[in-house]
Parts: sequence; C-alpha cells; structure tokens
Amino acid sequence: MRTTLTLPTALDQPLLRSVDLGDFRLPNRVVMAPATRARAAGAGLVPTDLHAVYYGQRAGAGLIVTEGAWVSERAIGFVNVPGIYSEEQVAGWRRVTDVVHALGGRIVLQLWHAGAVSHPDLLGGEPPAGPSAVDPREKAFTRSGFKETVTPREMNLADIERTVADFGAASANARRAGFDGVEVAALGVYLFAQFLNPRLNRRTDVYGGGRAGRRRLLLEIVDAVAAPWDGRCVGVRVSPYWDSGDRFLADASTLADYDELVTALNDHPVAYLHLRGPDLTPPDLGSFARYRHRFDGPLIVNNGFDRATANAAVESGTADAVSFARHFIANPDLVTRFALDRDLTDGDPATYYSGGAEGYVDYPVSG
Ligand SMILES: Cc1cc2nc3c(=O)[nH]c(=O)nc-3n(C[C@H](O)[C@H](O)[C@H](O)COP(=O)(O)O)c2cc1C
Repeated sequence: MRTTLTLPTALDQPLLRSVDLGDFRLPNRVVMAPATRARAAGAGLVPTDLHAVYYGQRAGAGLIVTEGAWVSERAIGFVNVPGIYSEEQVAGWRRVTDVVHALGGRIVLQLWHAGAVSHPDLLGGEPPAGPSAVDPREKAFTRSGFKETVTPREMNLADIERTVADFGAASANARRAGFDGVEVAALGVYLFAQFLNPRLNRRTDVYGGGRAGRRRLLLEIVDAVAAPWDGRCVGVRVSPYWDSGDRFLADASTLADYDELVTALNDHPVAYLHLRGPDLTPPDLGSFARYRHRFDGPLIVNNGFDRATANAAVESGTADAVSFARHFIANPDLVTRFALDRDLTDGDPATYYSGGAEGYVDYPVSG
C-alpha cells in the first residue's frame, strides 16, 4: 500500500515555489537537466516525433533544458545527436516546442560544440578542431562505439570567427523553432572547457595566454547567442569541478579560472548560471555557494540531487532552482512525484544513448 499522503507537507516545498530566472517565469524550481539521448538516427540529425513525445511527457518541469544540439556540422562529436543548423532540424524542433507549449511547459535548447573531443569518423574523415594541436585524450562516441580522440587541428582565427557566427545562427534558429531561449553548453570536456584549459589551450593570440584570453571565446559567444533574443533568454552551463583523464583537473588553478569566468559573466546578458557540481552524493552545498557569491544572477545547481537535498539547496538560499537529469529520464512526472512524495523509478543506463522508443518514452507515470 502507498504511504499515507500528508499533502500540506508535500506541497509546502521550496522546490514547488515559482521563480523568475532572467526572463523565464517558472511555476516550480524543478528543472529538467540536459541529457543526450542519441535518438536522431537519420542522416540529417533531425529531431523526430519521438522527441516531441519525450519532451511533452516532461512538460511539467519548471524549465526543460534539452539535450545538447550541434550548432553546425563542424561541431559534431557524438553519434545520433540532433542539430539546429538546417531547416529540417528547425522544423523538427518546432514540433517539439509546440507540444511542450501546448502542455503548458517552457523549453530552452542547449547549444553544443564538441571541439577536439570528436573523431574523424564523425566529421567525414577530417580531424576535429580545437584550441591547439593537443590530444585531449578523451573518448568520442562513434557509430562503432567509443573511440580514443586524436590530435586535433588548431583553430585559426577564421575558424573561430566562423564558430562565433555558427552559434549566433544556431541561436536565431532556436528562436525560429519556438524555443523560449537557449543554453550554452560550456561544461565537461567540450569546446569551451578546452579553451579555458591551459593544458589544451597553448595559444599565444587573444584567445589564449592568460585567463582572460582563455575565456574570451565563451564570452564572445554568449554575446553572439544573446543577439537574436530581446532579453535575458540565455543560460550558461559550466562544470568547474569536472575531473577526467590527465587533461581536465579540478585543481586550485582551474577553480580560479572559473571564479574569474563566473564573475566576468555578470557583465554579459545571462539569464541564469547552470552549475554542475562535483560528483558527490549527497551534494556538497558549499561547492555551489562559492559561485553563489560571485554570480549576481539566478543559479541552477545540479548533480546528484534528490527531493530532500534539492529542497535544502533552495531553502538555504544556495540555489534558485535545481536540475535533474537521471531522475527526469526515468520519471517523466517528476514534479508530480515530488509534490505527492511518491517513490522514484530507476532509469536503465543501457538505453540512455540507444534504443529508439524503448527506455525513452516508455517510463511510467506514477499511479
Ligand atoms: C544520459 C545522459 C546524457 C547527458 N547529456 C548531457 C548533455 O547533452 N548536456 C549536458 O550539459 N549534460 C549532459 N548530461 C549531464 C547531466 O545534465 C547531469 O549533469 C548529470 O546527469 C548529473 O545530474 P543528475 O544527478 O541529476 O543526473 C548527461 C547525463 C546523462 C545521464
């Protein structure tokens, strides 16, 4: 038998209170975190009706941040991930945003560029391009599974100019596709994290050198991405604590890079900062508080939260909202489950990145 509901207690959760993040007005603070699901299997990397069903099922989120979408063919670094650079992709996403809006939701598109963490198999045989010709020594997911990265080509100034333009065009496409805004994916091991990283960015021009040079590309792109929108409709997602291989280290120097970056974002039109914290369960609120003090705008925190820890993060003032990836994959009605204090379903990692409808749109809602 189900546990007895104590409705007033369950409903009186900080997570369920409305909030404004920049120009986004959220009825609750339960954000769907971006999650690549690799279901755009056609040659054109077009989102399908299955994507519309998937996001529609999750329209109860205070805000949906979609899976990362490629800003151009040059940005690709993972198999079957949709893009936002062709008219077919814009039309495919339009069906997604129409469904989410018809169901009362809000949805922003995450803009992604893999940079050097790609593979010639994904780029028509061409080597990936990155800040410098240094192998990030990561893995890229190709049609034949994970493959070791290679030494990339160093981006020249024309490549960088084109990348800024690609992000601007992708952001305008997102607006035409009916999104409420966009989020710049500056996390993990991808393009911006590569430029920020002195082990991978050995440039001596204005996009390298010291900290200010290494963060320059991201700040230029935030402005380019904001241009097609009238207000604060652009979020930025970073992961200062990311630690992988021997290139990405969450050491004191990296944290100092991010301290300065987050402070610098205050001078740009950013709707919210979306912070992925360390891989700790339960999450350590102190590691988020470091950025709370530095960033003047709204903060979404992520990584390993559940209902109780997320409510604590909002209640303590550490965050304005909390995002959930794995819980939203497996619980399309996550907000309802939080509100009614229902148990959560576990997801199946075997279908995270493959499986068509299976493990994608067939998770049950709570009875
Ligand atoms: C299957 C899967 C795909 C993901 N894809 C993305 C992505 O496209 N962009 C992104 O910023 N983070 C991505 N992430 C990271 C999540 O947004 C999130 O940071 C991580 O899962 C920790 O949050 P959680 O504990 O709520 O799952 C992905 C995570 C998972 C599990």
